[in-house]
Amino acid sequence: MSERGVPKQLFIETYGCQMNVYDSERMRDVLMPLGYVLANKPDEADLVILNTCHIREKATEKVYSEIGRLRAHKERRRGEGKTTTIAIAGCVAQAEGEEIIRRAPEVDLVVGPQAYHKLPELIARAARKTGDRLAAEFTAQEKFDALPARAPDGVTAFLSIQEGCDKFCTFCVVPYTRGAEFSRPVKDVLAEARALTDRGVREITLLGQNVNAYHGDGGAGLADLLQELARIEGLERLRYTTSHPIEMSDDLIALHGAEPKLMPYLHLPVQSGSDRILRAMNRKHDGALYRDIIVRLRAVRPDIAVSTDFIVGFPGETEKDFDATLALVADIGFASAYSFKYSPRPGTPAAAMHGQVGEDVKAERLARLQALLSHQQRAFNEAQIGRTLPVLVTGQGRQAGQMHGRSPYLQAVHFDDAHAEPGEIVTVSIVSSSQNSLAGTLGAMVAA
Ligand code: 5AD
Ligand code: SF4
Repeated sequence: MSERGVPKQLFIETYGCQMNVYDSERMRDVLMPLGYVLANKPDEADLVILNTCHIREKATEKVYSEIGRLRAHKERRRGEGKTTTIAIAGCVAQAEGEEIIRRAPEVDLVVGPQAYHKLPELIARAARKTGDRLAAEFTAQEKFDALPARAPDGVTAFLSIQEGCDKFCTFCVVPYTRGAEFSRPVKDVLAEARALTDRGVREITLLGQNVNAYHGDGGAGLADLLQELARIEGLERLRYTTSHPIEMSDDLIALHGAEPKLMPYLHLPVQSGSDRILRAMNRKHDGALYRDIIVRLRAVRPDIAVSTDFIVGFPGETEKDFDATLALVADIGFASAYSFKYSPRPGTPAAAMHGQVGEDVKAERLARLQALLSHQQRAFNEAQIGRTLPVLVTGQGRQAGQMHGRSPYLQAVHFDDAHAEPGEIVTVSIVSSSQNSLAGTLGAMVAA
């Protein structure tokens, strides 16, 4: 509470991947006991945290323009006799912390992804204007040990089990911003999953930059961890993201056919369909290996939905290379995908490569790729019409009596039912579909 006993308002803006969504929740959990309440807008917030993303140039630029907006907000509040603390968290904080401190005096503190447990101390320091404004070291275990118990706000939750990356794809900043691969011990992950389940969570998505490179204590891999988690009563659904093709081990592939709690959906970035480009990207696999993984997954789980990431216009990419990407898309058939124009990131090997591709060529290729991918996504959704799917109820829709939920394939599902409770798994007959969601009518309830 503030001196007058009025709760302080906290606003957290999250950019980038699910790891940041998870981290923002954990920051909120650290700060709530100090008397903060969540604000919907930064306007009246006493503490504003930008949880930033460094992956592409556009994401990084957004941070500096947002800081500019917050400066005005801070000045306006100062005129009203109020103080505002501005904190920059996430990967831009980690990678460019010193530059932010230099360029943006209105920023009170810069906190890297491994130092969130120190937020209360850093905020106090900022208020006293003593000590360093920057905390950005790599000590993942200390962070996880020090963070308080989770307070989930729904029936689905993320759970971070692995951070960092040693793969060094030539386009990517993650190995520099998030550091070497680190896996949390099995018992810590199980304890967090049990606590979430006790508080009503029914579906957990395990997170990591290279989640299938997970190596717990005693040699446990991701498949072992998933099996342990599947034993938790009340925890009905498991997912994991993001994976690397070279870490798709035989036991993990087999588990997709053997463990009913493991949902039939996999996000497996491929980046390109050209072997020449995959080599230049240092992806350590070719198109054939990727196709083989999908064939093996579909052999054990025929309905598995596959999602992926692409980069177009990587240095040296020719029209022929791009055709190979389109051919891979046509062969696999993706349920969903993210695709990006290559963005040169300072300090990464690809940024210094010859044959940088022009923006217009990148834009034109991206448009062609996205047209094909969005057609596939629509077709995948349409293929659900007439099927009856088990849907995890996630909450109420905007209209009275309407509920929303999540299909096994991660699609949003809308259906009418005044009585369904969040957390139940109900069967829904799918009657229509759109680009991003399904709609249906309720069948019988299958599980509580
Ligand atoms: N330019 C464009 N896209 C990138 N990604 C990572 N680095 C870059 C970059 N420099 C994409 C990849 C990755 C996703 C998270 O972001 O496709 O899988
Ligand atoms: Fe980046 Fe490659 Fe590591 Fe993924 S595997 S985080 S793309 S370096």
